[in-house]
Amino acid sequence: MTATICGTGSYIPSYTMDNHEIAGMVDTSDEWIQERTGIVRRHIIQNETTVSMAAEAGRRALENGGVSAEEVDLILVSTISSNLILPCAACEVQKELGAVNATCFDLSAACTGFVLAYNTAMAYLLGGMYRTALVIGSESLSNLTNWKDRGTCILFGDGAGAAVIRLDASDKSVLESDGRSYLPVTHSDGGRGEALTCKSRHDFNGLTGEKHRHCPEDMMDASYYMQMDGQAVFKFAVKSVPEVIGEVLKLNRVDTRDISYYIMHQANQRIVEAVAKRLGEPMEKFPMNLKEYGNTSSASIPILLDEMNRKGRLKKGQKIVLAGFGAGLTWGASIVEW
Ligand code: ACO
Repeated sequence: MTATICGTGSYIPSYTMDNHEIAGMVDTSDEWIQERTGIVRRHIIQNETTVSMAAEAGRRALENGGVSAEEVDLILVSTISSNLILPCAACEVQKELGAVNATCFDLSAACTGFVLAYNTAMAYLLGGMYRTALVIGSESLSNLTNWKDRGTCILFGDGAGAAVIRLDASDKSVLESDGRSYLPVTHSDGGRGEALTCKSRHDFNGLTGEKHRHCPEDMMDASYYMQMDGQAVFKFAVKSVPEVIGEVLKLNRVDTRDISYYIMHQANQRIVEAVAKRLGEPMEKFPMNLKEYGNTSSASIPILLDEMNRKGRLKKGQKIVLAGFGAGLTWGASIVEW
C-alpha cells in the first residue's frame, strides 16, 4: 500500500521587503546578507494571517489535485506562528474550505515541521485510518522577528505551502496492495534547544508579574522574539542534514543516483551548498528559492515543492528527498515518490 502527493499549493504575501530596506533598520548591507545567506528579499504579511495563508495554500493544493474539500479526512497545519491559540489553525482551515469530514490538528516543530507533518499524515494513511490528507506549513515569522537584531531579522519571511496526499488504493485493495512506501528518519535533541528559542507571549506573567494582562510591546524583552546562535545552528545543519539523508537512503536501500531532487528547508544557501558537497551530489539536484522568500520555517519545503510542481519539474515516478532541520533541535528526511 502506498500514498502519494497528488496536489500542491502555496500562498505568498505580495508585500516584499528587500535587503536594502533592512539595511535602513539595522547595521547590515545587501552585500553582506546576499553573501552570507543568499537571501535578496522576503515577503511579509500585511492583512494576511497564518490561518488565512494556510487556507489559501490548502485551497490551491486541493484545486491542483482535483480533490474536493469534502473528500479530505485529515488536515494538519505545521506552524510556530499561528495567530490563534484556540481554535487550532487546522480547524480554521477546515471552516474556510468547507472540509466538513476532516479531523484537524496543528503540529509545532519549527523548520522540521512540514517533514514531520508529512510523516504523520503518511502514518495515518498507511495505517488505514484515513484516505486523503491535506498537509500545510504556514508561518508569519515577521511577528516573531526581532527587527532590531541583525543576526536574525535578515533571515526570516512569511508564507504558506500545502500538499494533498492520497492513498493509492481502492477501498478493496487498501489491505491487499503490495505497493511500497518509504520509512522516514527523524531525530530530536532537546538538550541543544538553547540554540534557537522564542518565549511564548503567554508567558509574560513571568516578565511583568501581572496576570491576565496584555503585554505591550515595550514590556517585551528580546527573549519574546526568535533568538538564535547562528553559528551553532549552521554547524548543526551542515553535519546533521547530510547524515540524516544518508540514513534515510540506506534504510530504504535507495541510491543517490535514484534521487531526482533534494527539497531542503530553505534557511541559507551556504547550508544547502555544504549539504550537496558532503553528499557528493550536484547542485542541480538542490532547488532553491530562498533568494526570494528567506527562511519561512515550516512553509519553505511545501512552497518549493509547489513551485517545482507548477513548473512541471516533478515527473511521475521520480524520487525526491524532503529534508528539514531547525529549532528543538529537530531534523529529519523522508523519501517521496512523485
Ligand atoms: N550584517 C552585518 N554583519 C553581521 C550581521 C548582519 N546582518 N549579522 C552578524 N554580523 C556580524 C557579526 O556581528 C560578526 O561580526 P564580528 O566578527 O565583528 O563579531 C560577523 O558578522 C560574523 O558573524 P557570524 O555569526 O559568524 O556570521 P555567519 O557567517 O555565521 O552568518 C548567519 C550568520 C547568516 C545567521 C548564519 O550563521 C546562519 O545562517 N546560521 C543558520 C541559521 C539557520 O539556518 N536557522 C535555521 C533554523 S530557523 C528555525 O528553526 C525557525
